[in-house]
Amino acid sequence: MSVPKSKPARVPGGRLGRDLRILLHLLRGQPKDGDQQARLEAFYAPQAGHYDAFRDRLLHGREQLISDLQARLPQTGAHVIELGGGTGRNLEFFGPQLESFSQVTLVDLCPALLEQARQKFAGRPQVRIIEADATRWQPQQPADAVYCAYSLTMMPDWRAALDNAITMLKPGGILGVVDFYVSAARPPSDQVRHSALARWFWPHWFAHDGVHPTPEHLAALRARFPEHQFSEARAPVPYLPGFSVPYYCFIGRRV
Ligand SMILES: C[S@@+](CC[C@H](N)C(=O)[O-])C[C@H]1O[C@@H](n2cnc3c(N)ncnc32)[C@H](O)[C@@H]1O
Repeated sequence: MSVPKSKPARVPGGRLGRDLRILLHLLRGQPKDGDQQARLEAFYAPQAGHYDAFRDRLLHGREQLISDLQARLPQTGAHVIELGGGTGRNLEFFGPQLESFSQVTLVDLCPALLEQARQKFAGRPQVRIIEADATRWQPQQPADAVYCAYSLTMMPDWRAALDNAITMLKPGGILGVVDFYVSAARPPSDQVRHSALARWFWPHWFAHDGVHPTPEHLAALRARFPEHQFSEARAPVPYLPGFSVPYYCFIGRRV
């Protein structure tokens, strides 16, 4: 059986009009008031219906991450968890393999994005959509793979989320992360060094929307997973011609 195509809520207007509305919300930024859930809901609720169409052009490397995970998962019966899974877009990248999983859990704190995920995966009993904080939620059984796609940079207590994710894994289980980042001024010799301008610009550009690219995530992941591999790349940014934002893709195995 094939995985259903994304069916976002209808948003009036052509693609340019919908993009402009998203850009307006990105320019307004995430509110400073309220707790993390209230801030996420205020930021994402007006964007939810066009989230996937716009983020497919902004959040690169997600299909690559899912493909890297697929290559490492058991053929059948895998238990997979996405933390900060939003609309469930990444689950669609698993394609027909999704049907072979014993359990797939998408955890997110934003009700408006979760509603999109619920619409997509209605009638899929193996897919559970959970409204919870990734820094605290725990599964009942350990997982074969846990992954975060562009969510660590939006979690103020990302260290707690990372610690929590590691405790969800079976021994030998896999953690996958894809996210924006900037290098340290003096990165390890096997990593890319970004210019001082890039190291200044991207954290300032994204902070307004509650996204915090930093060298610390990749450093912490590499330290926590002695057995790992990663790649570094840059991606174009919609409506920002000439700019490319750095991102990394990481896979680590819990020993
Ligand atoms: C940029 S979106 C990425 C969503 C999805 N992973 C994707 O690739 O489209 C970041 C997500 O992290 C979620 N998030 C932020 N803080 C969270 C937390 N503490 N617990 C769970 N989800 C959180 C947001 O609600 C949002 O859905």
